[in-house]
Amino acid sequence: MSRWKEEYQRKLVTPEQAVKVIKSGQHIVLPLGGGEPPDLLEAMAKRKDELEGVVLHQLLALRKLSYLQPGMEVHFRHNSWFTSGASRAMVQAGLASVTPNYFHDVPRLITDYIDVDILMACVSPMDEHGYFSFGLSVDYTTTAALKAKTVILEVNPHMPRTLGNCFIHINDAAMLVESSSPIPELASAPITERDMAIGHYIADLVENGSTVQLGIGGIPNAVAQCLLNKEDLGIHTEMIVDGMVDLVEKGVITGKKKSMHKGKLVGTFALGSNKLYQFLDNNPLIEMHPVSYTNDPYVIGQQYKMISVNAAVEVDLLGQCCSESIGHVQFSGTGGQADYARGAVRSQGGKGFITVPATAKGNKISRIVPRLSEGAVVTTSKNDVDHVVTEFGVAKLRGRTFKERAQALIEIAHPDFRPWLREEAKRMNVL
Ligand code: COA
Repeated sequence: MSRWKEEYQRKLVTPEQAVKVIKSGQHIVLPLGGGEPPDLLEAMAKRKDELEGVVLHQLLALRKLSYLQPGMEVHFRHNSWFTSGASRAMVQAGLASVTPNYFHDVPRLITDYIDVDILMACVSPMDEHGYFSFGLSVDYTTTAALKAKTVILEVNPHMPRTLGNCFIHINDAAMLVESSSPIPELASAPITERDMAIGHYIADLVENGSTVQLGIGGIPNAVAQCLLNKEDLGIHTEMIVDGMVDLVEKGVITGKKKSMHKGKLVGTFALGSNKLYQFLDNNPLIEMHPVSYTNDPYVIGQQYKMISVNAAVEVDLLGQCCSESIGHVQFSGTGGQADYARGAVRSQGGKGFITVPATAKGNKISRIVPRLSEGAVVTTSKNDVDHVVTEFGVAKLRGRTFKERAQALIEIAHPDFRPWLREEAKRMNVL
C-alpha cells in the first residue's frame, strides 16, 4: 500500500466520529453549491442538543438539509453570503444571517474577518500523489482550507475531479469520511421565446474571438444557444454552466484568441446537470481558480473582447440595477455581477450586458422602473452598467447622459408601461 493510501486509512472515520470535533460557538465554512458535504452536515444536525451558536458560512446552499430548518437557528446559524432556494426561507424569516460581498472579495473577507475553526468540504477521490480536487466549488474554499484550524473532507466518487488551482493534499486534512450521496443537479429553466429574443440581441453584439462570461438565472443558457454560430469564443467566467458544454461540443469554444489561459476554459465553480459534471471530470480543457483570481476586475479587464452577461430583477431610469432583492426582501446575492460588469468594460473591445425581462408577474409589473422599489439594493451601479437588454431591444447606457439613458431604457420597456415611465421621467426632471 502506498504511503498516501496508508495515511488515508489512518484518517478515515465515520461522519458521526468526525463531527464530534465541533464545539458550540465555532465558525464552520462550507463550499458553495455542489461542494457542500451532506453526510457531515446531517451528522452535525443530529448533535443539535449538544451544540449552540455554531455559525456556518456559505454561498448558495444547495440542499435543504436538516440544520437549515426553522427551530435549528439557536444551534446552527446559517450565514448566507449568497441566498439560494435552499436558504431563502430562513433568510427571509430572519432565521439566517446575510453577509454582503463582492464574490471576488470573499477569500479576502474570510482571511480578514472569519475565524475559520473548521472547513467541511466534499472532494473527489484521492489521486496517487495524495491530492483531492475541490471539484465544483473552488472559489473561496481553497482559502478557507488554508485558514481552517481543522479540515474535514467528505470524499465522494460523484464529485468531478476538476483540474487547475483546486487541490488539497491529504497532509492538510485532519479527517476523511466517505460518501456516495448524489451531487444535486440544478435544473435549467425551460428556455422561453422571451429568453431567446434577449439572447439574439446579445449575440448580434458578440464578435468572433470574444471571451465570454455567463451568469446565473434563466437567460444565460438561452444566450449560449444564440452563440452557436460564432467562431473561436473563449470562456473566462465564475460559473461554468450547461450552455457552455454545448458550445464546446459544437466547436464554438476554442479559446484560441484568449489573451490569458489560451485554449483553456477558466472558471471558479460549476452548477448544472449531470452532463455538465461528467464533462468537467478530469477534463484538461478546464482550469479552475480561486474566485479572487477569476473575478478580479483587473484580471477580467485583461481578457480579449470580454463579454459579461448577467441578469437583474429591476433597472431604474438612471441605469441602477437591482439583481438580488425584491424590494427589501433578500432573494439572491451580488455574486460576481459587479465584478464582471466592471471587468468587461475595462477590457479592450469588451462589453457588459445586464439582461432583464421587461415585465414580471404576468405583465403586471414593469422591471424597467423610474426608481428602484423601496428597499431594493443596487447590485450594479449606474457607473458600471454598459448595456441593458430586454426582449424589446438593447439600451446602451455607458457614456450616456441621464436623459439619453432614460430615453433608451423607456424604448426597451414593455409598450404598456412606456407612457407611465415617460411621465415619471419628466416628473423627475430626467426627460
Ligand atoms: N418584482 C416582483 N417580482 C419579481 C420582479 C420584480 N421586479 N422581478 C423578478 N421577480 C420575481 C419573478 O417573478 C420570479 O418569481 P417566480 O419564481 O415566482 O416566477 C423571481 O422573482 C425570479 O425572477 P427571474 O427573473 O425568473 O429570476 P432568474 O432565475 O432569471 O434570476 C436573478 C435572476 C437576477 C435573480 C439572478 O440572475 C441573480 O441572482 N443575479 C445576481 C447575481 C449575479 O448576477 N451573479 C453573477 C453570475 S453568477
